[in-house]
Amino acid sequence: MRLETVTPRNHHLLQAGGSPFIMLAGEVHNSSSSSAEYMEPIWEKAAGLGMNSLLLPVTWEMVEPEEGAFDFRIVEELIDQARRYGMKIGFLWFGAWKNAQCYYAPAWVKTDTVRFRRAEVEKGKKKIHLQEFHGMPYTTLSYLCEATNEADANAFRELMLHIKSVDEQERTVIMVQVENEPGLQGAAREHSAAADAAFENDAPQPFVEYMRAHTSTMSADVRQAVESGAGSGNWMEAFGEAAEEIFSAYHIASYIEKVAAAGKKVYPLPMMVNCWLDKGDKPGIYPSGGPVARMMEVWKHCAPSIDVIAPDIYVPNFCEVCDDYVKMDNPLFIPETATHGYAGPRLVYVIGHYHVIGYSPFGFEDLGKPFTAIESYLFGVDVGDPMLGTPQSMEEYAWYNRTLGSMMPLLTSKYGTADLLATIVERPERDTMVFGEYGFQTRMKLPILSRKDGVCLVLKKAEDEFYILANGCVITPFSVNPQKPHVDILSLEEGLFQQGEWRMARRLNGDDVARMRFESPTLLKIKLFGYQ
Ligand code: DGJ
Repeated sequence: MRLETVTPRNHHLLQAGGSPFIMLAGEVHNSSSSSAEYMEPIWEKAAGLGMNSLLLPVTWEMVEPEEGAFDFRIVEELIDQARRYGMKIGFLWFGAWKNAQCYYAPAWVKTDTVRFRRAEVEKGKKKIHLQEFHGMPYTTLSYLCEATNEADANAFRELMLHIKSVDEQERTVIMVQVENEPGLQGAAREHSAAADAAFENDAPQPFVEYMRAHTSTMSADVRQAVESGAGSGNWMEAFGEAAEEIFSAYHIASYIEKVAAAGKKVYPLPMMVNCWLDKGDKPGIYPSGGPVARMMEVWKHCAPSIDVIAPDIYVPNFCEVCDDYVKMDNPLFIPETATHGYAGPRLVYVIGHYHVIGYSPFGFEDLGKPFTAIESYLFGVDVGDPMLGTPQSMEEYAWYNRTLGSMMPLLTSKYGTADLLATIVERPERDTMVFGEYGFQTRMKLPILSRKDGVCLVLKKAEDEFYILANGCVITPFSVNPQKPHVDILSLEEGLFQQGEWRMARRLNGDDVARMRFESPTLLKIKLFGYQ
């Protein structure tokens, strides 16, 4: 039995209608939000799933098809739709980067390879084939090209200005992601003559000093490289083994800072970047210089206009990845994640345990459907855990969203405190939550439970009273007060919240109190009594 604790943090970064807001979101497939007509049934599905917001791409190629000629019709249409459905939007700016490539740059950018330089991934090569990805063709814009940076920043500023002009009163758009999974693949850094020269030049001294002053949060190999560096000099001298990745991160984060700052100056919405995880690979296999946790120190220094560094998590070790992204007081936001059977329990867990500001399965339009080959690969369906290969039940996901949505003021009032905790089947060793005098042990891997997707969130209402959201678990309350070591359950109710008020649906007692076993999503209110 290990105690569940929470590091106090209080990120009420996202607001809606003047109140703190948790995005119970879904991210659409890349092409869906290019057409309002195509989106109509998707909004419908999101509403049916109890979501309160969507993450929607807005692409550079669509809003600035010709240089300086902007077309924001799609942005307005999406905002109108969100309002009709009573939902919020996080826009995803697909500018220079989308999955480390430049798919969404407008034609006038793509075709002018002199003004808008491509990265030389290998000497003299602007397009390569990535061996690790079945020979996939790869090209991207250079992170060292100022003309691209200016054009990208200009387009983003126009976008933010436009959002402000149509939405400042209603605030339908509550956050923006700047670029998508930025970074460089095929190499740890660019290899043009200009990139070589920049790499040979001295690394900026204030940056070197910042890095040397922030080694405590760094991953072991990066810390080692920074600590054993010379403390000044060129990038190799300053950062040794990690120099190429740090060089890329420095330039990409600085590029994105320029874009984000241009937008924030005209309309200061919360802004985030998302990352393609490193998964222990070498930089260049995952996008080098992207905002992975191992480069978070670089990003926090170079991109202060970015509020959140967000991991896209498809891998099975979801919770460990979350742990990596809460360092440096980074608010946790999961903009993309899998739609398998852990999607629902993880939603509950990240709210209860990490006090997350948003959670969003990717391609949620397909929730409930059998997985495609790519999804199966991304989700790791062959690692031997049947839940990874089981699509999330739509009905239960909707229940989780609606229930959490109905508790929003209560949940956010407990954010940043130890009055809101959670446990999940994926972390069987952390099965116990303690609140003052009382604790709850939650067991999820038991022969008497048919479910394998257990989760439990507990919110302390008063010293002896708690709300519990439970599924797939057996719950045992206990006392941690040595003066009153015994605990009785005074009342146990099943119910829901309506307009912020608790409504009892059933009074539970007898067998139901004796067992405290929950095999379907259930919301409870419990009152305890301790004695000697
Ligand atoms: C991560 C990207 O950020 C998404 O836009 C999408 O391409 C997924 N990968 C693919 O499933």
